[in-house]
Amino acid sequence: MGLRPGDVNLASQADMARIGGPPYEYLEVLRREAPVWWNPPPSVDHMHIPCPGFWVLSRYADVDAASKDPSRFSAWENSVLWVDVKENPIALQAQRSGLMGMDPPQHTQYRRLLQPGMTPRRIAALEPFIEAEAAKVIDELASRDRAEFVFDVAAELPMVLLCQMMGVPQEQRREYLRIANNVANVEFAENFEHNMFELYLFLDALVKNSDKLDDDTMLSKYTHGEVDGRALTPDEITQFFVTLSIAGHETTRNTTAHFVRLMDEHPDQRALLLEDLDARLPNAIEEVLRFSPPVMQFCRTATEDVEIGGAAIAKGDKVYLSYISANRDEDVFDDPNRFDIERPNASAHLAFGSGPHFCLGAAVARTQLRCLLGALYRRLPDIALAEPYTPMGSVWFNAITEMPVLTCPHAAGGTGNAGSSEGTQ
Ligand code: HEM
Repeated sequence: MGLRPGDVNLASQADMARIGGPPYEYLEVLRREAPVWWNPPPSVDHMHIPCPGFWVLSRYADVDAASKDPSRFSAWENSVLWVDVKENPIALQAQRSGLMGMDPPQHTQYRRLLQPGMTPRRIAALEPFIEAEAAKVIDELASRDRAEFVFDVAAELPMVLLCQMMGVPQEQRREYLRIANNVANVEFAENFEHNMFELYLFLDALVKNSDKLDDDTMLSKYTHGEVDGRALTPDEITQFFVTLSIAGHETTRNTTAHFVRLMDEHPDQRALLLEDLDARLPNAIEEVLRFSPPVMQFCRTATEDVEIGGAAIAKGDKVYLSYISANRDEDVFDDPNRFDIERPNASAHLAFGSGPHFCLGAAVARTQLRCLLGALYRRLPDIALAEPYTPMGSVWFNAITEMPVLTCPHAAGGTGNAGSSEGTQ
């Protein structure tokens, strides 16, 4: 018997672990049979924060429209996570003080502060640094026959770049990497609140020591930043960097890993890429973001009763924006389960969200992916999975926790294509 709406609980880690990656087949059923579907609370609460259940928007048009309508679908009301933080004033306050948990007009003012660090000019100025750091990562990888790709390779550049943009001093970067990695492991860490607190304290100390800085780093810019004619408080500045630390790291790391995995699983696409690497790489990156977006979902809360596609969403209900489903919507993408690096509209994906919260780091992410993957496939065009990868089994991130690779599989006698069992993901 085929899958039916209700067969998978999208808030259940057990269901995600059982499926072993994003539940694409189930989402296809929802798009077809119940595009606005009430997903009840899971029977086991893994996060130790209650999940109230949510309406799943699985069609591209609905995800896009709700993302662009913050007055009816609020980020501020009850956080963008799938859990209920309303009864927890500390968690609610923490969510609301980060950029992602704000609504316009407050969101617009705070976002404006971060934007100068992300302009095309600023990113172009950073490109030589990104190229040089990418080359170092690939040199190090090329010196080994075998490596763990996710944390030993793909994690490095996003972290170095974040440190550079923010202004984390060289001698504190390893410590920052350790703390930020702990926080990224949000659903599985035993002591998530402790980890968050550790990140907060680390960044708070940086912010408090940055008042004499006068350079191009974000730390310097925000220390002297203003909203409504008043200086930002140290707490506000620290919250910006907490958001950046989480948003700018895990996402790029996993996209890099998915790229390598997908090329391994689709040798025809790899051959096509290698025929004209520079010309085909940008669209190949967009197709990887469409096919395997690293963030599966964010949520909003309805601020009034709303009807979508015949479903009655009540004021206060959570609404789940399924980016992974929108990106496979057959109304937008022809033959959506086919991985095609020459897909003409690949970049129409919603991997970066849409509307006022559209990923602020999208251009930085694209630049670092292009630099790192360009360097990788120029130097190690045959890189292959050494054995099947381990999916994280998260309800939030489409993440990989471990992916051993062989750098020159033919020389080392490896087989390649080790991860092809997950070919639809
Ligand atoms: C492939 C890499 C990345 C992906 C797929 C990604 C995805 C996303 C998504 C889905 C959102 C939420 C959009 C929404 O709610 O509508 C977001 C927001 C955000 N991202 Fe990214 N991101 C990536 C890389 C980065 C990087 C490298 C940075 C910073 C250096 C960054 C900074 C941010 C910030 C600050 C926000 C909050 C924007 C706001 O609320 O206005 N992201 N990202």
